[in-house]
Amino acid sequence: MIKVFPSPEELAAALAETIAAAISRRLEKDGTAAIAVSGGTTPVRFFQALSKKSLNWRAVTITLVDERWVPADSARSNAGLVQRDLLQGPAAAATFIPLADATTTPEQGKAGIEEAIRGLNLPFAAVTLGMGNDGHTASFFPGGDRLAEALNPSAGQTVETMRAPGAGEPRVTLTLPLLLAADTIAIQIEGAAKRAALDAAMQPGPVMDMPIRAVLAARPAPDIYWCP
Ligand code: 6PG
Repeated sequence: MIKVFPSPEELAAALAETIAAAISRRLEKDGTAAIAVSGGTTPVRFFQALSKKSLNWRAVTITLVDERWVPADSARSNAGLVQRDLLQGPAAAATFIPLADATTTPEQGKAGIEEAIRGLNLPFAAVTLGMGNDGHTASFFPGGDRLAEALNPSAGQTVETMRAPGAGEPRVTLTLPLLLAADTIAIQIEGAAKRAALDAAMQPGPVMDMPIRAVLAARPAPDIYWCP
């Protein structure tokens, strides 16, 4: 379902409410909860709204759905974004699990990241995804060298490396089956250009051309949060 909001602020508030509720349900059930969030530029307001929620953040672990293989102090680091905008206020008590250690290559770092992810309370209580105008989500990029493996529902992998022409730098991504197993999945998309890309992705066509199709095909279908 596409949930349409009049402004980015209202979208951020509603998304934060949904994700906080998903965390809260899992905390009640298990005592701990883990979530995976998207990076990029769109989530800033959502992160700020979520960070202010009153939850037992000490029992919450936050990781990323994907990361660019850059130093943590790079402006392109998704970990840096989470640090600046989400691990603040009440949410500063949460534990953050990074997906990159840029002293190595993603291929060298993958095993250590898999181990860290295996230690979480899986499946995730919530996953938030973004989308690029090329139809990528997480680091499922068209033309990605490990795209088929990352999307494979039966590969049994939780983490994949990704190198793709549109990706900028090498990446690490959680795999599709791990993301789709989450209790709650929300896709945050803003602006007219992304809406046009979403409409194109909703048309029948190859998943490898617009990999977000693999997420849109999930049942129950994830909610899409959109505003102009
Ligand atoms: C990343 C992401 C990626 C992102 C989209 C949208 O690290 O690049 O997690 O999948 O969600 O590229 O990015 P923007 O929000 O910057 O448009």
